[in-house]
Amino acid sequence: MLRSAQPDDHAAIVALTDVAFEGSEEALRVVRELEPEISLVYEDGGAIVGHVMLTRMEMGDHRPFQLSPLSVAPSHQNRGIGSELTREALRLADEAGEPLVLVLGHPTYYPRFGFEPATALGLEAPRDFGAAWMAVKLAAYDPAVRGRVVFPPAFG
Ligand SMILES: CC(C)(COP(=O)(O)OP(=O)(O)OC[C@H]1O[C@@H](n2cnc3c(N)ncnc32)[C@H](O)[C@@H]1OP(=O)(O)O)[C@@H](O)C(=O)NCCC(=O)NCCS
Repeated sequence: MLRSAQPDDHAAIVALTDVAFEGSEEALRVVRELEPEISLVYEDGGAIVGHVMLTRMEMGDHRPFQLSPLSVAPSHQNRGIGSELTREALRLADEAGEPLVLVLGHPTYYPRFGFEPATALGLEAPRDFGAAWMAVKLAAYDPAVRGRVVFPPAFG
């Protein structure tokens, strides 16, 4: 079952991120330190087995959403949970009138949700992340929304 994350879920989300990202300090800092505007969990039998969050980045006059992290427990991967969480997060961002969502992720995973190379849209990362740096245009997309994105320090 997919639902909005609640304050009580925080410890379980950190634990899930730890196992999904195999102890990555960066992923742990992001879930611990950033205040997401959208945070969704996937629950199975009372346990949180999936999580995704959208956080605002700085980009000149704009504050675009970035999807990070997306975690699915290894025991529950390849069952469509990551896809369901991503699609719902994008739907909520779209509903909120956001022009786009950024991601720094697997270039073979995110294109299925409409993500494309972000630099081609004039969205520059703090450094060259190659094909991992992507964005998805939403209904309110405006090509004027472009610039250099500044990551919060949690991203390292
Ligand atoms: C990546 C991740 C979120 C996918 O979640 P999931 O629920 O297993 O994914 P879904 O069931 O929705 O989709 C399965 C598809 O994802 C692909 N996939 C899974 N992990 C992948 C990876 N690391 N890179 C590229 N594709 C991946 C599978 O090959 C499968 O592809 P197919 O549909 O073409 O067969 C999950 O594997 C995970 O938490 N991984 C560890 C943390 C991580 O890397 N997060 C993403 C950071 S960008």
